[in-house]
Amino acid sequence: MLRNSHHSYGRLARALHWLCALAIIAALACIEIKGFFPKGSALRDGMKFAHVQAGLIVLLLILPRLLWRVSNPVPAISPAPGKLAMLAAHAMHWALYALMLALPLLGVAFMQGNGREVALFGMTLPTLFAVDPAAARNWKDLHELLGNVLLWGVILHAAAALWHHAIVKDDTLARLTGPLR
Ligand code: HEM
Ligand code: HEM
Repeated sequence: MLRNSHHSYGRLARALHWLCALAIIAALACIEIKGFFPKGSALRDGMKFAHVQAGLIVLLLILPRLLWRVSNPVPAISPAPGKLAMLAAHAMHWALYALMLALPLLGVAFMQGNGREVALFGMTLPTLFAVDPAAARNWKDLHELLGNVLLWGVILHAAAALWHHAIVKDDTLARLTGPLR
Protein backbone atom coordinates (compact mmCIF):
# COMPACT_ATOMS: atom_id res chain seq x y z
CA MET A 1 0.00 0.00 0.00
CA LEU A 2 1.77 3.11 -1.26
CA ARG A 3 -0.83 5.61 -0.05
CA ASN A 4 -1.85 6.31 3.55
CA SER A 5 -5.06 4.70 4.74
CA HIS A 6 -7.28 6.11 7.49
CA HIS A 7 -5.51 3.73 9.94
CA SER A 8 -1.80 3.78 9.04
CA TYR A 9 0.86 5.59 7.02
CA GLY A 10 1.53 4.01 3.60
CA ARG A 11 4.91 2.84 2.27
CA LEU A 12 5.87 6.12 0.59
CA ALA A 13 5.09 8.36 3.60
CA ARG A 14 7.07 5.93 5.81
CA ALA A 15 10.04 5.88 3.42
CA LEU A 16 10.06 9.69 3.16
CA HIS A 17 9.77 10.10 6.95
CA TRP A 18 12.67 7.76 7.76
CA LEU A 19 14.92 8.91 4.88
CA CYS A 20 14.49 12.56 5.96
CA ALA A 21 15.06 11.59 9.61
CA LEU A 22 18.25 9.69 8.69
CA ALA A 23 19.58 12.58 6.57
CA ILE A 24 18.84 15.15 9.30
CA ILE A 25 20.44 13.03 12.03
CA ALA A 26 23.50 12.53 9.75
CA ALA A 27 23.69 16.30 9.04
CA LEU A 28 23.49 17.15 12.75
CA ALA A 29 25.94 14.40 13.79
CA CYS A 30 28.54 15.40 11.16
CA ILE A 31 28.47 19.09 12.07
CA GLU A 32 28.80 18.28 15.79
CA ILE A 33 31.63 15.75 15.21
CA LYS A 34 33.43 18.29 12.96
CA GLY A 35 34.21 20.34 16.07
CA PHE A 36 36.47 17.56 17.45
CA PHE A 37 38.97 17.85 14.58
CA PRO A 38 41.57 20.63 14.20
CA LYS A 39 40.92 23.45 11.70
CA GLY A 40 42.28 22.66 8.23
CA SER A 41 42.38 18.87 8.85
CA ALA A 42 41.01 16.51 6.20
CA LEU A 43 38.62 14.94 8.72
CA ARG A 44 37.09 18.32 9.64
CA ASP A 45 36.62 19.19 5.96
CA GLY A 46 35.20 15.71 5.34
CA MET A 47 32.61 16.17 8.10
CA LYS A 48 31.59 19.56 6.70
CA PHE A 49 31.31 18.01 3.22
CA ALA A 50 29.16 15.15 4.56
CA HIS A 51 26.99 17.71 6.41
CA VAL A 52 26.32 19.60 3.18
CA GLN A 53 25.53 16.36 1.27
CA ALA A 54 23.08 15.17 3.95
CA GLY A 55 21.48 18.65 4.14
CA LEU A 56 21.02 18.80 0.38
CA ILE A 57 19.39 15.35 0.40
CA VAL A 58 16.81 16.81 2.83
CA LEU A 59 16.21 19.66 0.34
CA LEU A 60 15.72 17.10 -2.45
CA LEU A 61 13.19 15.10 -0.41
CA ILE A 62 11.18 17.86 1.23
CA LEU A 63 9.10 19.04 -1.75
CA PRO A 64 7.92 15.53 -2.79
CA ARG A 65 7.27 14.88 0.90
CA LEU A 66 5.10 17.97 1.32
CA LEU A 67 3.20 17.18 -1.89
CA TRP A 68 2.58 13.63 -0.68
CA ARG A 69 1.54 14.94 2.74
CA VAL A 70 -1.18 17.24 1.35
CA SER A 71 -2.52 14.63 -1.10
CA ASN A 72 -2.94 11.83 1.49
CA PRO A 73 -5.17 11.44 4.54
CA VAL A 74 -3.45 11.60 7.95
CA PRO A 75 -4.24 8.27 9.66
CA ALA A 76 -6.32 8.67 12.81
CA ILE A 77 -4.77 7.82 16.20
CA SER A 78 -6.57 5.24 18.32
CA PRO A 79 -7.60 5.89 21.05
CA ALA A 80 -7.90 9.53 19.96
CA PRO A 81 -5.79 12.02 22.00
CA GLY A 82 -7.36 15.21 23.36
CA LYS A 83 -7.86 18.34 21.20
CA LEU A 84 -4.94 20.20 22.82
CA ALA A 85 -2.51 17.31 22.27
CA MET A 86 -3.56 17.11 18.60
CA LEU A 87 -3.08 20.86 18.19
CA ALA A 88 0.41 20.68 19.75
CA ALA A 89 1.35 17.71 17.51
CA HIS A 90 0.16 19.54 14.38
CA ALA A 91 2.04 22.71 15.32
CA MET A 92 5.21 20.68 15.92
CA HIS A 93 4.88 18.80 12.60
CA TRP A 94 4.45 21.99 10.56
CA ALA A 95 7.35 23.62 12.44
CA LEU A 96 9.51 20.59 11.54
CA TYR A 97 8.45 20.83 7.86
CA ALA A 98 9.25 24.58 7.82
CA LEU A 99 12.69 23.93 9.35
CA MET A 100 13.39 21.07 6.90
CA LEU A 101 12.79 23.50 4.04
CA ALA A 102 14.42 26.61 5.53
CA LEU A 103 17.66 25.05 6.84
CA PRO A 104 19.07 23.65 3.58
CA LEU A 105 18.01 26.83 1.72
CA LEU A 106 19.80 28.98 4.31
CA GLY A 107 22.86 26.68 3.95
CA VAL A 108 22.89 27.22 0.19
CA ALA A 109 22.24 30.97 0.69
CA PHE A 110 25.17 31.57 3.00
CA MET A 111 27.61 29.43 1.00
CA GLN A 112 26.68 31.01 -2.34
CA GLY A 113 26.49 34.43 -0.64
CA ASN A 114 30.15 33.91 0.28
CA GLY A 115 30.92 33.02 -3.34
CA ARG A 116 31.36 29.30 -2.58
CA GLU A 117 30.20 26.55 -4.90
CA VAL A 118 27.55 24.12 -3.58
CA ALA A 119 27.41 20.62 -5.09
CA LEU A 120 25.41 17.45 -4.46
CA PHE A 121 27.07 14.18 -5.56
CA GLY A 122 29.58 16.27 -7.58
CA MET A 123 26.86 18.21 -9.45
CA THR A 124 27.08 21.95 -8.90
CA LEU A 125 23.83 23.67 -7.99
CA PRO A 126 22.73 26.66 -10.09
CA THR A 127 23.33 30.07 -8.50
CA LEU A 128 20.23 30.86 -6.44
CA PHE A 129 21.76 33.59 -4.24
CA ALA A 130 24.00 36.48 -5.32
CA VAL A 131 27.40 37.00 -3.68
CA ASP A 132 26.79 39.25 -0.68
CA PRO A 133 29.15 38.60 2.27
CA ALA A 134 27.20 40.86 4.69
CA ALA A 135 23.90 39.05 4.02
CA ALA A 136 25.74 35.70 4.07
CA ARG A 137 26.88 36.39 7.66
CA ASN A 138 23.24 36.88 8.73
CA TRP A 139 22.08 33.75 6.87
CA LYS A 140 24.87 31.74 8.50
CA ASP A 141 23.86 32.96 11.99
CA LEU A 142 20.20 32.13 11.26
CA HIS A 143 21.21 28.72 9.85
CA GLU A 144 23.10 27.88 13.03
CA LEU A 145 20.32 29.14 15.30
CA LEU A 146 17.55 27.25 13.45
CA GLY A 147 19.79 24.16 13.19
CA ASN A 148 19.90 24.06 16.97
CA VAL A 149 16.14 24.68 17.19
CA LEU A 150 15.61 21.69 14.87
CA LEU A 151 17.92 19.54 17.01
CA TRP A 152 15.80 20.19 20.11
CA GLY A 153 12.56 19.94 18.12
CA VAL A 154 13.53 16.49 16.87
CA ILE A 155 14.46 15.34 20.38
CA LEU A 156 11.06 16.54 21.67
CA HIS A 157 9.24 14.95 18.72
CA ALA A 158 10.93 11.55 19.14
CA ALA A 159 10.36 11.67 22.92
CA ALA A 160 6.64 12.43 22.33
CA ALA A 161 6.37 9.47 19.92
CA LEU A 162 8.00 7.11 22.46
CA TRP A 163 5.82 8.51 25.27
CA HIS A 164 2.66 7.81 23.23
CA HIS A 165 3.90 4.28 22.55
CA ALA A 166 5.15 3.29 26.00
CA ILE A 167 3.06 5.35 28.44
CA VAL A 168 -0.20 6.32 26.71
CA LYS A 169 -0.13 3.03 24.77
CA ASP A 170 -1.97 4.36 21.69
CA ASP A 171 -1.05 3.55 18.07
CA THR A 172 0.72 6.87 17.21
CA LEU A 173 4.05 5.10 16.50
CA ALA A 174 2.54 1.83 15.22
CA ARG A 175 0.86 3.85 12.39
CA LEU A 176 4.38 4.62 11.12
CA THR A 177 6.25 1.40 11.97
CA GLY A 178 3.67 -1.39 12.37
CA PRO A 179 1.77 -3.45 9.79
CA LEU A 180 -0.02 -1.59 6.95
CA ARG A 181 -3.71 -1.57 7.79
C1 HEM B 1 18.38 19.86 7.34
C2 HEM B 1 19.52 20.29 6.96
C3 HEM B 1 20.53 21.01 7.81
C4 HEM B 1 20.64 21.11 9.18
C5 HEM B 1 19.74 20.49 10.24
C6 HEM B 1 21.79 21.92 9.45
C7 HEM B 1 22.24 22.26 10.72
C8 HEM B 1 23.42 22.90 11.00
C9 HEM B 1 23.94 23.14 12.32
C10 HEM B 1 23.26 22.76 13.63
C11 HEM B 1 25.15 23.76 12.17
C12 HEM B 1 26.17 24.13 13.25
C13 HEM B 1 25.73 25.17 14.16
C14 HEM B 1 26.75 25.39 15.26
O1 HEM B 1 27.97 25.31 15.00
O2 HEM B 1 26.26 25.62 16.35
C15 HEM B 1 25.40 23.90 10.75
C16 HEM B 1 26.53 24.45 10.21
C17 HEM B 1 26.80 24.48 8.87
N1 HEM B 1 25.93 24.18 7.84
FE1 HEM B 1 24.15 23.26 8.05
N2 HEM B 1 22.36 22.28 8.27
C18 HEM B 1 21.63 21.75 7.25
C19 HEM B 1 21.84 21.90 5.89
C20 HEM B 1 22.94 22.52 5.34
C21 HEM B 1 23.17 22.71 3.91
C22 HEM B 1 22.26 22.20 2.80
C23 HEM B 1 24.34 23.37 3.79
C24 HEM B 1 25.06 23.83 2.55
C25 HEM B 1 24.55 23.94 1.37
C26 HEM B 1 24.86 23.61 5.12
C27 HEM B 1 26.07 24.20 5.39
C28 HEM B 1 26.60 24.36 6.64
C29 HEM B 1 27.95 24.79 6.89
C30 HEM B 1 29.03 25.09 5.83
C31 HEM B 1 28.09 24.86 8.29
C32 HEM B 1 29.35 25.19 9.09
C33 HEM B 1 29.53 26.61 9.29
C34 HEM B 1 30.90 26.80 9.91
O3 HEM B 1 31.04 26.55 11.12
O4 HEM B 1 31.79 27.17 9.17
N3 HEM B 1 23.97 23.09 6.04
N4 HEM B 1 24.32 23.39 10.07
C1 HEM C 1 15.09 14.09 12.23
C2 HEM C 1 14.15 13.39 12.71
C3 HEM C 1 12.66 13.51 12.44
C4 HEM C 1 11.91 14.46 11.78
C5 HEM C 1 12.39 15.71 11.08
C6 HEM C 1 10.53 14.04 11.85
C7 HEM C 1 9.46 14.73 11.29
C8 HEM C 1 8.15 14.31 11.31
C9 HEM C 1 7.03 15.00 10.73
C10 HEM C 1 7.11 16.33 10.00
C11 HEM C 1 5.92 14.27 10.97
C12 HEM C 1 4.49 14.62 10.56
C13 HEM C 1 3.90 13.64 9.58
C14 HEM C 1 2.57 14.15 9.07
O1 HEM C 1 2.51 15.31 8.64
O2 HEM C 1 1.61 13.40 9.09
C15 HEM C 1 6.32 13.12 11.72
C16 HEM C 1 5.48 12.13 12.16
C17 HEM C 1 5.86 11.16 13.06
N1 HEM C 1 7.14 10.88 13.51
FE1 HEM C 1 8.79 11.86 13.03
N2 HEM C 1 10.47 12.87 12.56
C18 HEM C 1 11.75 12.53 12.95
C19 HEM C 1 12.15 11.44 13.69
C20 HEM C 1 11.30 10.59 14.33
C21 HEM C 1 11.67 9.56 15.28
C22 HEM C 1 13.11 9.24 15.70
C23 HEM C 1 10.52 8.95 15.68
C24 HEM C 1 10.31 7.83 16.67
C25 HEM C 1 10.91 7.71 17.79
C26 HEM C 1 9.43 9.59 14.98
C27 HEM C 1 8.10 9.26 15.12
C28 HEM C 1 7.06 9.84 14.43
C29 HEM C 1 5.67 9.44 14.56
C30 HEM C 1 5.14 8.35 15.47
C31 HEM C 1 4.92 10.26 13.71
C32 HEM C 1 3.41 10.27 13.50
C33 HEM C 1 2.87 11.27 14.45
C34 HEM C 1 1.44 11.65 14.16
O3 HEM C 1 0.93 11.38 13.07
O4 HEM C 1 0.84 12.27 15.05
N3 HEM C 1 9.94 10.58 14.19
N4 HEM C 1 7.68 13.15 11.93
